[in-house]
Amino acid sequence: MTSRSVKKKPAKKTGAAKAKATTKRSPAKRRVVTSENNAKPKLYANLVVQLLSLLKGEHDLIANAANFSALLFNSLPNVNWAGFYFLQGDELVLGPFQGNPACVRIPLGMGVCGVAAQQCETIIVPNVHEFPGHIACDVASNSEIVVPLFDGERLLGVLDLDSPAIGRFDDQDAEGLNELVTVFVAHEEGIGP
Ligand code: SME
Repeated sequence: MTSRSVKKKPAKKTGAAKAKATTKRSPAKRRVVTSENNAKPKLYANLVVQLLSLLKGEHDLIANAANFSALLFNSLPNVNWAGFYFLQGDELVLGPFQGNPACVRIPLGMGVCGVAAQQCETIIVPNVHEFPGHIACDVASNSEIVVPLFDGERLLGVLDLDSPAIGRFDDQDAEGLNELVTVFVAHEEGIGP
């Protein structure tokens, strides 16, 4: 074998090169993956438009929070509870929601809601049965996301969503829901004490 014939032999592909070649041969598959990746951001962008429409001209907190929770409950797949807890003193008190009746008062630091409020950060719980201190309001719930509401630095409460599906919520949900609560709080004036 001459060195010339060796040069003509196709180069052995690295893992990355193989992956690239496969992608090039499957443009249809690539489009599907892109579509799936964009599905949640598109859904949340659409929900922002719908929320703004629901809020327009109305500044009653209870009415707007009720419609906001109904919008989420009816638009997001695999959600069995969606609603608010508002901060009163050192505890969260149940606000407007959709789903089964829920516990009314949650002390800061207790349950997923109380920890999210105390730590002032969004918490995604893939499996609520593995979260120490999780407060079970609906036996059907298996995963949960809790998003704190802020007016500037001031904590107003939390938005809580439950799902019967393990691992239902991800970073795209966190981003979308944070944008929605930002729109909501910006619209409302004088929430809380
Ligand atoms: N699971 C929550 C309690 C509220 S219900 O899910 C509606 C928690 O652990 O804080």
